Amino acid sequence: MSLKAPVPQPGILDIDPYVPGESTTPGGVKPIKLSSNETPLGPSPAAIAAFKAEADHLDRYPDGGATALRKAIAERHGLNPDRIVCGAGSDELISLVTHAYVGTGDEVVYAEHGFLMYKLATLACGGTPVPVKEQALRADVDAMIKAVTPRTKIVFLANPNNPTGTYIPHEEVRRLHAALPSNVLLVIDAAYAEYVRRNDYESGIELVSSSENVIMMRTFSKIYGLAALRIGWAYCPAGIADIINRVRGPFNVNSAAIAAGVAAMADRNHVEVAIAHNERWLPWVDAELKKLGLDVTPSVGNFVLIHFPTDKGKDAVSADAFLKQRGIILRRVAAYGLPQCLRMTIGTESDNRAVVAALTEFMGRK
Ligand SMILES: Cc1ncc(COP(=O)(O)O)c(C=O)c1O
Repeated sequence: MSLKAPVPQPGILDIDPYVPGESTTPGGVKPIKLSSNETPLGPSPAAIAAFKAEADHLDRYPDGGATALRKAIAERHGLNPDRIVCGAGSDELISLVTHAYVGTGDEVVYAEHGFLMYKLATLACGGTPVPVKEQALRADVDAMIKAVTPRTKIVFLANPNNPTGTYIPHEEVRRLHAALPSNVLLVIDAAYAEYVRRNDYESGIELVSSSENVIMMRTFSKIYGLAALRIGWAYCPAGIADIINRVRGPFNVNSAAIAAGVAAMADRNHVEVAIAHNERWLPWVDAELKKLGLDVTPSVGNFVLIHFPTDKGKDAVSADAFLKQRGIILRRVAAYGLPQCLRMTIGTESDNRAVVAALTEFMGRK
């Protein structure tokens, strides 16, 4: 870089740009894309209709407060709409919260295989990422508590986590929160909450309601099938909602997203069908892959983490290439410190069967 070039803030050049799940394969055939944890069922037809209807009003700014969307979310979840902030995906909310609370030299704690955006957002603010060792690919609450120092500003917890698919029970989340100083913000990222079928799981709403330093984030990108529209939301203590509202762009959620989000929230049946689909196919994929001798981390989300052998020709890189040749795109997760794994989103029945058939061949079982 020449001496005269503008110089970015400290930390920015340490960021390896986020590489999204791929969407094309070498042959140019329409791929089976199972790389970004999108729902195979698409959005609610009502959401698509609401999106289309917005085409007649593109000259108008959106409602900067996303009032209708916050109201719909609040009604559905029994929350106070004033304490909900919407964003252009939960990615934007992760960035906004980090910008609001983290500065140069401040520390941000998260589990070592936690969602990558926590690290990227921290570096973008000149903060110091503090990844914490996990136990059996699960967040280790004791180790996270130990990692907190007087410089810690935020603890991020993806629950369930991507890409591992593991979760920690609400008692563990409470224990983590109870050990944090009141000036440390606990961000519970519950992007996959709707998929979890466990009695000891809670998305974080209760903890937000009963404390001043916890926020919970959710997204319309996964079970609602609206990833393209970029809609996320955070449920916050009033004071924190006020802070995020100060730093966000005044029109950060667009009109089509608001309209589609409202319609999606109203279509409970569509969500139920998506949950039932996942309940049917997640165990099937898990069991079939295990039959091939592959290790699969137990997942409560809509995806599985598949562990490949380290032998040359049988490793994750080879599996990825083999699958791509057959038009199947899974997700490499080396950037998450998991170079021997691929992450697979649960797809349609035929997608799932196609992956199992291809991996059967790859593992030499046929
Ligand atoms: C744990 C987790 N949080 C947040 C996100 C981002 O979601 P959004 O599309 O709402 O930005 C993802 C997407 O993969 C995720 O896995």
